[in-house]
Amino acid sequence: MLKVKNLKTNYGKIQALHGVSINVYKGEIVTIIGANGAGKTTLLNTISGILKSSAGKISFNGTDITNVPAEKIVRAGLVQSPEGRQIFPLLNVEENLQLGAYLRADKERIDEDLRRVHEMFPRLNERRKQLGGTLSGGEQQMLAIGRALMSKPELLLLDEPSLGLSPIFVQQIFEVIREINSQGTTILLVEQNAHVALQTADRGYVIATGQIIMDDDAKALLKHDSVRKAYLGG
Ligand SMILES: Nc1ncnc2c1ncn2[C@@H]1O[C@H](COP(=O)(O)OP(=O)(O)O)[C@@H](O)[C@H]1O
Ligand SMILES: [Mg+2]
Repeated sequence: MLKVKNLKTNYGKIQALHGVSINVYKGEIVTIIGANGAGKTTLLNTISGILKSSAGKISFNGTDITNVPAEKIVRAGLVQSPEGRQIFPLLNVEENLQLGAYLRADKERIDEDLRRVHEMFPRLNERRKQLGGTLSGGEQQMLAIGRALMSKPELLLLDEPSLGLSPIFVQQIFEVIREINSQGTTILLVEQNAHVALQTADRGYVIATGQIIMDDDAKALLKHDSVRKAYLGG
């Protein structure tokens, strides 16, 4: 479904991605784990068209999407839930969710998906008139994922969904990620929280200083010595 080949991205003179190649197949949950500053957000932002690559190729469902404008990529079914959530603090929960559907052609099916998001996150239904900025961190993360789902993604990119959440919310969010996947959405997830990411994913990649240094089944990576030492606390 997603094929990234030898991708390079720079911030001015600083090169953040040094030729990254990854594949995501339809139906999978794939995770990319790596330390702070490894290049995870840069990679997702380049895939979703927010940043321009300087070399390499990205294709989605067989179509070249390298350096295609972000909104075209969303329309094609590739949608990112960004790091730090970036919800609209002065809009209420319902308005935030509706904005996720902004680019959709099939407006008649929006209500159906709103119901689906409410089933997945009952709390967003309870708080639908509350301003986004007054939600807790965990609720904002739910809202960001719910908003991404309102764009009807075929492939959902999640940037650090566990960041800043208490353990109980982390478990809840990852249960929902599994649920979204079992309902047919393919998922590419980047995380510093390697433990929960590898427990959730089918396959994983390890990124360090803008390069993929390892890839394997998620269960195998969990057992791998160097992964345990570097990312799982020994
Ligand atoms: N806007 C930016 N300008 C310059 N350098 C940046 C910018 N954003 C990120 N970087 C650098 O690019 C590298 C990768 O960052 P990032 O993709 O945010 O990593 P991660 O998401 O894995 O924490 C880091 O060295 C970071 O300092
Ligand atoms: Mg990041």
